[in-house]
Amino acid sequence: MMQLLWKSEYSVGIDEVDVQHRTLFEIFNEIHALRQDKTVVDKYDGIITILVRLSNYAEVHFHTEEEIMAGCNYPQLAEHRQKHQDFMEKVNNIDPDKIDMQQDRYLREIMDFVGNWLCDHILVMDKEMGGFCAAVRQQQQ
Ligand SMILES: [Fe+2]
Repeated sequence: MMQLLWKSEYSVGIDEVDVQHRTLFEIFNEIHALRQDKTVVDKYDGIITILVRLSNYAEVHFHTEEEIMAGCNYPQLAEHRQKHQDFMEKVNNIDPDKIDMQQDRYLREIMDFVGNWLCDHILVMDKEMGGFCAAVRQQQQ
């Protein structure tokens, strides 16, 4: 999986969500950069640092989206929140011992999971939520 480059099709129509998604792309690209970096032999510390950053930021970001959905009485909030929780569980359950054994394989697995999840989730669930909530917010103004 290559670097994630932001494209206009990723926009969900709510600026604060788009800004946070771009930051998640940046964190993803740090994983990519670490994987490519041949000067670092032991990447364990780097992997852990990025995973903590990813976990913390994803938590903040999901909270932002869930607040927006709640504020708009979004009908699919529960389903959407469940997807966020599944992601957090997966990221938080990555076993550091396994990372130590096979770092490159682990980095590739993390990249594939995070990259695919982000793109799929943004393009389907977040865009659906964005379309609905942007319209509701306009009416609320
Ligand atoms: Fe989401």
